[in-house]
Amino acid sequence: MSSESQKKTWLRCWRHCWCLTILFLVPVLASCANDESGDTVAEKEHPGKRIYTRYCFSCHQGGVAGSPVLGDKEAWAPRLAKGRKALVKSTLDGIPPGMPIMGLCLRCTEDEIRDAVDYMLEAVAEEK
Ligand code: HEC
Repeated sequence: MSSESQKKTWLRCWRHCWCLTILFLVPVLASCANDESGDTVAEKEHPGKRIYTRYCFSCHQGGVAGSPVLGDKEAWAPRLAKGRKALVKSTLDGIPPGMPIMGLCLRCTEDEIRDAVDYMLEAVAEEK
């Protein structure tokens, strides 16, 4: 009889410990999950990268026809001096003869062109 009640007490205690363990683990696991989703956001692609890779890359990666190369600070310095707005405008209008109207992405919206220009500008800004 007494050993039976001892067993019950032990069981209750054991369950109690389990509950505490789970209560402790849940927030720890939840914070791990949060960290992961934070990383995914940080690694998310720049909105202009897709357009750049598809349309602008062909000229701007290799400096075709004297185009400023992606990430080349020196080549971009005089362009940066014009300001972002002017660069977006000259991309939309083109610069004869080398830089085609809208960088050849004729179905792009103005926002998409702006994103692509931002992507190029950030590439020079980030470079050491
Ligand atoms: C056919 C080749 C070609 C393609 C495609 C192209 N570019 Fe260019 N881009 C040039 C050349 C050449 C220049 C330099 C023009 C100059 O200064 O005479 C230039 C210049 C620029 C400039 C600097 C403008 C300025 O006012 O100094 C920006 C910004 C730019 N391009 C953005 C883009 C974007 C964004 C795309 C894609 C949507 C793109 N380009 C696609 C050839 C190209």
